[in-house]
Amino acid sequence: MMLLVVVLSWLIAVTFSLPVNTPKQHVITNGADLNDTAPSYTFAQLYQLHTRFWNHSMYPLYIDEAASINSTLLSPTCHGRVDATRNYLGAELNTEYLFGYFATLNATHAMSLIGVPIRYQTVKFAANRNVVSTAIIAQFDVYSVGAVLPVEIDSWMRFDEDGKIEAYDIAIKYLQFTFDTIIALAQPVVNASTPAEAQRKLHTLIAHSICETHTKYCANSTATIQYPTEAACVEYLAGRTRFGMAYEGGMDTLLCRSVHQNMISFRPELHCAHIGPGGGDMCVDDYTYDKKVTEKFFEEGSFLPGQEEKTD
Ligand SMILES: *[C@@H]1O[C@H](CO)[C@@H](O)[C@H](O)[C@H]1NC(C)=O
Ligand SMILES: *[C@@H]1O[C@H](CO)[C@@H](O)[C@H](O)[C@H]1NC(C)=O
Ligand SMILES: *[C@@H]1O[C@H](CO)[C@@H](O)[C@H](O)[C@H]1NC(C)=O
Ligand SMILES: *[C@@H]1O[C@H](CO)[C@@H](O)[C@H](O)[C@H]1NC(C)=O
Ligand SMILES: *[C@@H]1O[C@H](CO)[C@@H](O)[C@H](O)[C@H]1NC(C)=O
Ligand SMILES: *[C@@H]1O[C@H](CO)[C@@H](O)[C@H](O)[C@H]1NC(C)=O
Repeated sequence: MMLLVVVLSWLIAVTFSLPVNTPKQHVITNGADLNDTAPSYTFAQLYQLHTRFWNHSMYPLYIDEAASINSTLLSPTCHGRVDATRNYLGAELNTEYLFGYFATLNATHAMSLIGVPIRYQTVKFAANRNVVSTAIIAQFDVYSVGAVLPVEIDSWMRFDEDGKIEAYDIAIKYLQFTFDTIIALAQPVVNASTPAEAQRKLHTLIAHSICETHTKYCANSTATIQYPTEAACVEYLAGRTRFGMAYEGGMDTLLCRSVHQNMISFRPELHCAHIGPGGGDMCVDDYTYDKKVTEKFFEEGSFLPGQEEKTD
């Protein structure tokens, strides 16, 4: 009896200490409760739309897509999220992030832990109405270590009535494993005898690369400059910024600035702040684990079948 009371009070304590911001549940029965105004595509059409997007994300098609500034594959109000980084709103920002990022890496071969995607295979695909849930395995040319590595990219996408992506939620599977593998492969390239030493050397090399971009695109105007000199930039990024884990591509890390470095040439006035000490609104430690998981970026029901985006 005593034991039962102890167990029960423990259970009650545990239950009531759980976070309370549980997302609202949708009840899907026979579809009667769903809004039927969403565009309705056939399975084959959705496969085609999905394939068109990923085709343009591979070398060399991302180059023209980046040059278009506002990709016609994306809705003007596109809501995009990649779990390892942040959220991107609108066609222009998403074009820079999805296509421009790789176009720049391809052109500059900047020191980076990520390479450029060259081909892919769709390995999982489910679709209904205007929503798809898929996985691709893309082959990345990780030129900095001279290797081609597979990366699984899982996504949910929703298409508007023009077949453009109006919302996507991408998760890169096993990303820390990818990074650790690349760091291990970098050992002979940077003359390191352990992965930890390789990461330290990569940290310095990546900092130099980011700072060269700063000198080239940000240092010529008071509106965009972040560091007084290139040496001060290297000192800050190599000495006072943490490298970052795979999930910290949107936090106050070197990895985050290494991502945003590749968007700077498109709009220095917007992106220079992201590689600065302050990190702009992209490379800052302003969210917790709980906030990340439960954040309300997509409109409620975005990836449920047959629902239009509801605006608050
Ligand atoms: C369904 O969605 C449309 C477009 O967003 C909206 O105008 C309409 O009010 C919605 N209907 C219901 C029953 O929610
Ligand atoms: C995607 O690329 C593949 C391979 O080049 C091609 O067979 C297919 O038709 C393309 N699909 C679309 C929708 O662009
Ligand atoms: C891209 O879209 C943005 C936002 O709608 C617009 O301000 C900008 O002029 C567009 N740029 C081009 C080149 O179409
Ligand atoms: C762009 O990437 C492709 C595929 O990895 C590569 O063959 C090509 O040489 C790269 N271009 C430049 C300018 O680096
Ligand atoms: C590694 O060592 C080789 C041979 O000593 C040298 O040529 C190369 O520049 C070194 N690389 C780095 C990144 O230190
Ligand atoms: C600074 O240089 C970059 C790269 O050449 C250029 O895009 C930008 O317009 C320049 N800014 C100013 C204010 O001159």
